[in-house]
Amino acid sequence: MLHCWCFRAWLWRPMWILAGVLLWSTVKAQISYTIPEELKEGSVVGNIAKDLGLDVRDLANRNLRIASESGNTYFIVDLAKGELLVNSRIDRESLCGQNAECRLPLQIVIENPLQLHRVEINIQDINDNAPEFLTKESIMKISESITLGRRFSLERAVDPDVGTNSLQSYSLTENDCFRLNVKTSKDGRKVPELIVDKALDREKKAIHNLVLTAIDGGSPPKTGTTQIQVVVEDVNDNEPKFQLNSYKASVPESAASGFSVLTIKATDLDDGVNGEIEYYFDAHTSDDVKSVFEINAETGKITVIGKLDYEGRKSYTFDISAKDKGSPQLQGDSSVQVDILDENDNAPEILLTSLPSPVNENAPIGTVVALINVKDLDSSANGKVSLSLPEKSPFKLNSSFDNHYSLITNSLLDREKNPELSVELLASDSGSPQLKTRKTIKVKVLDINDNPPLFTQASYDVYIRENNPAGASLFSVLAFDKDQDKNAMLTYTIKDSKFQDIPVTSYFYINSENGTIFSMNSFDFEKIKLFKVVVQASDHGSPSLSSNTTVNVFILDQNDNVPVVIYPSASMGSVSHQRMPRSAKMGHLVTKVTAVDADSGHNAWISYRLAEATDSSLFAVNLYTGEVRTKRSVSEQDDASQRLLIEIKDNGEPVQSTTVTVDILIEDGLHEPVSDFRHKASEKDKKNSKITFYLILSLASVSVLSLLTFFILLIKCARNSRGNASCFRRDSDGYKNPNRNLQIQLNTDGPIKYVEVLGGDMMSQSQSFGSYLSPMSEFSDLTMVKPSSTLDFKDTLRGLDASLPDSAWTFECQQVSQYCLVHRYTV
Ligand SMILES: *[C@@H]1O[C@H](CO)[C@@H](O)[C@H](O)[C@H]1NC(C)=O
Ligand SMILES: *[C@@H]1O[C@H](CO)[C@@H](O)[C@H](O)[C@H]1NC(C)=O
Repeated sequence: MLHCWCFRAWLWRPMWILAGVLLWSTVKAQISYTIPEELKEGSVVGNIAKDLGLDVRDLANRNLRIASESGNTYFIVDLAKGELLVNSRIDRESLCGQNAECRLPLQIVIENPLQLHRVEINIQDINDNAPEFLTKESIMKISESITLGRRFSLERAVDPDVGTNSLQSYSLTENDCFRLNVKTSKDGRKVPELIVDKALDREKKAIHNLVLTAIDGGSPPKTGTTQIQVVVEDVNDNEPKFQLNSYKASVPESAASGFSVLTIKATDLDDGVNGEIEYYFDAHTSDDVKSVFEINAETGKITVIGKLDYEGRKSYTFDISAKDKGSPQLQGDSSVQVDILDENDNAPEILLTSLPSPVNENAPIGTVVALINVKDLDSSANGKVSLSLPEKSPFKLNSSFDNHYSLITNSLLDREKNPELSVELLASDSGSPQLKTRKTIKVKVLDINDNPPLFTQASYDVYIRENNPAGASLFSVLAFDKDQDKNAMLTYTIKDSKFQDIPVTSYFYINSENGTIFSMNSFDFEKIKLFKVVVQASDHGSPSLSSNTTVNVFILDQNDNVPVVIYPSASMGSVSHQRMPRSAKMGHLVTKVTAVDADSGHNAWISYRLAEATDSSLFAVNLYTGEVRTKRSVSEQDDASQRLLIEIKDNGEPVQSTTVTVDILIEDGLHEPVSDFRHKASEKDKKNSKITFYLILSLASVSVLSLLTFFILLIKCARNSRGNASCFRRDSDGYKNPNRNLQIQLNTDGPIKYVEVLGGDMMSQSQSFGSYLSPMSEFSDLTMVKPSSTLDFKDTLRGLDASLPDSAWTFECQQVSQYCLVHRYTV
């Protein structure tokens, strides 16, 4: 601006001067002075008075003055000396700018007469200005990829001085990459240029600080500088580089989602986005990897996102890349290997190679039941499996080869105890913590017919009344078999045995399926009192097993027999005739009525009663003995012929009775009959004594026999105490020695207490006795030995009747069973 104004002022001035010349008529010759600029105030430019040819003394009078076109008065005149003096600072540059010539025209006006003089003052340049850059600091941005030799125009410096004092040259500070070139433009000005001399590398030096110096030609030269900061702009010329060529990490297979595997790191020398790195899986990474791992693009942290399984995959190797955000994008590569660490996360497995096969209960020890295979997906110790059975198992494991076992029987099996065996297998691995798997397999035990049927009782007692209806069901036996199915299916049969020459099977029938026994006949107590029915239960196994039981069928008496009079014999007619002397005293035994009843027990308990009599005051009948005696002495008035009707009753329900009529003839002076009677009486006494003798003999023999029996048994027991032989076993050669054939059976089962003693030669006449102690009767029954015939025994009993008046006796002999039952009722 300053320059500009100066220039305008300079333009106008000649015009003004020209006008002055025209106005003023007298114009003298021109005077010129040359002075350097920037002279001090008061410096003498020249003696103007002298040069104009004026007298110094006139100067004041003539009013010499300088007419200034502008208000600025650079010069004054010292009127006393006539000298032109510098009045104020003269700056050539502000007056004339870049013009090489700088003239200041002055008009000197003198009055009296008015004269106008032109004075020209040449202002000479001095080097008072240094070259100057308008901008003191500037920033240049140059891409590092710039081609060599590229030029960048720099700001020119300005030096207001002219000529040699003006700007002459530029210089640049020492540096590696740039050099300076100064070209001269068409208008002759010098323009500095920056030339890229060497390749730039931002990564080596991002900023170059240069100082451009402008130098003028003054002496001494003046300089001006400007700071140029060359900022090398980054170009994406460096790819990211991973710190490692390959990474390795290991992760436990149980690592949960989010588990940090490792952090990859790459560096990029570039700047800004060119150096901003993002991490990725390589483009060819499989989905398997991507489903399990994740890379944080910014941090490079690799984390687990999926489920790891050592057993599925033991290691993952994948490529990774780091990409910067430059353009073009550059990338660096590396690889990652992630090893999965095995953990004991798989429990052992128990596999059955074959289903357990059913095993027979009699299978020998070592029979293979099942083949078992164990496996564990884990490796090494975690996958090492051992299989075991609980202690006390009836089975054993045989390890055949690696992880293969066979389950074999280790003891004998019993289906009846355990129809199905549970085998608890335990597989445990050797990992830590140890994992275990249990598996229970069931082994069926097949039945073998090893159990015979068993009856609920060893023997059964059954009581049935005689005269039972034929075909009625009597009783049911029941047997069980512990086996199964066919082996437990039972059939009941009656084992045939002869009873009184008739097979038992013709008396009884058994329902083979349910064991119910039916009678096929009506029984008569008077004929048969006891059946021993052997029932066999056999199963349907092969071979079949069976067992026996005995059913004792006791026939119970019913009062179905009328008492029968034995004496006086009815064979002489329906009436018995007796005679007695008239001299008979009170208590004279007239006769004795004897009756028997085929029934037994109550039913056979006979009582005698005088039902009718010609003179009931004379005779009495003993209720129990049937003795007919006189109640008083017979008198002369008594009829000679007396008739007695005696009723004989049993004690059954209903009562059965019979009668006997006894005609008695009372004879006067009867001597013959008396002697006869006495003879008879003595005969009777003889007979009685004979009976007594027999009785004593038989009782003694029985006692001796019993004693002997017990002794023999004691000795036998003592001898066999070590062995298991029964004391009561019959020797096979015992037939020769009657004493050794004795057998005592004591049966306390059931409601009957029954003792039976068998002795003597079984093939000949039986020597046996026994005792029934029946709770059904308050009487005691006794079976006696029958040493000879039945008839003899009847005699014996008759004797007993007489000797034991307070007892009643009945007897029954069974020819087949060879023993007699004698019932004695104690009143
Ligand atoms: C056995 O079978 C017979 C005939 O079918 C039947 O009368 C009887 O009552 C049965 N016995 C039992 C104990 O079921
Ligand atoms: C059952 O009795 C029959 C004969 O009555 C005999 O042959 C069989 O051996 C007996 N069975 C048993 C198991 O005692």
